[in-house]
Amino acid sequence: VKVLILGTAAGGGLPQWNCACEQCAQARQHGSHRTQDCLAISGDGRRWYLVNASPDIRTQINNAGPLTPGPARRETPIVGTLFTDAELDHTLGLLALRENTGMRVYGTNAVLAALTEAFPVRRILDPYGSVTWHEMTPRMPCDLDERLRVTAIQLGAKRPRYAVELENVGSGWVVAYRFEDRDTGGVFVYAPCLASWSASVDAALDGAHYAVVDGTFFHDDEMTRATGSGGTARSMGHLPIVDSLDELRKRPGVRVLYTHLNNTNPVLNEHGEERRTLDALGIGVARDGQLIEL
Ligand code: MLT
Ligand code: MN
Ligand code: ZN
Repeated sequence: VKVLILGTAAGGGLPQWNCACEQCAQARQHGSHRTQDCLAISGDGRRWYLVNASPDIRTQINNAGPLTPGPARRETPIVGTLFTDAELDHTLGLLALRENTGMRVYGTNAVLAALTEAFPVRRILDPYGSVTWHEMTPRMPCDLDERLRVTAIQLGAKRPRYAVELENVGSGWVVAYRFEDRDTGGVFVYAPCLASWSASVDAALDGAHYAVVDGTFFHDDEMTRATGSGGTARSMGHLPIVDSLDELRKRPGVRVLYTHLNNTNPVLNEHGEERRTLDALGIGVARDGQLIEL
């Protein structure tokens, strides 16, 4: 399995357009930008699946060698998109892919409902004939193709703010995906939105070789410290690194990278104390454009 990390920043990116915090200012000055969280995955290296479609998707695809169109004039190796949730930073990019001709889109019932009713991308895209919609049931393995199998693992019920009023759609608002390469046996887990540690997370990581997980915030009170406003990490549905680290260090067999990094996160500073803490445990920070092969 090949995993191409397309973007590694939380909603807003780095720098965020309206933010003058220290790290956004530094990123502007040094050009050390990060695009918003999503990745592409492939079993055979020919058929690729996006996992989440960030608002930066067009630039991300144009910068990704394996996602280059061809060989036919209008042909893309991107054959599907899976959503871990329906947050805007993970779904806005789908509208930018409307020139598609038959891409498969996968999400849980709750996510598909959000994208039909509250943020009606589905209704907007249907007249373009660009995508087909597929429900993903948590814990039910789904073969994307002969090589790549995926299982959604339900993580939480935090909804996007725009979808608080949707009723009777189930509780699968946030999932992780566990991918298995049926040829090599490689197992890759992607969980960019992790509200708390649970038995489901343990099950998702069991036997995994590599995991890219929610590293939005390092500290619970980081937003207030850095910007003077905002809630705690946990109140926003993101387990801070200080807490997930305690769990991840118990699993030395799983190579871990943190992603969905908020621009306030001190691990963005490669020379900082927080980055040294991760280095000492052999845990990494994902980079835009990073390729993983298992
Ligand atoms: C989140 O990850 O909590 C959301 O994407 C927040 C947002 O940008 O709306
Ligand atoms: Mn987000
Ligand atoms: Zn900032």
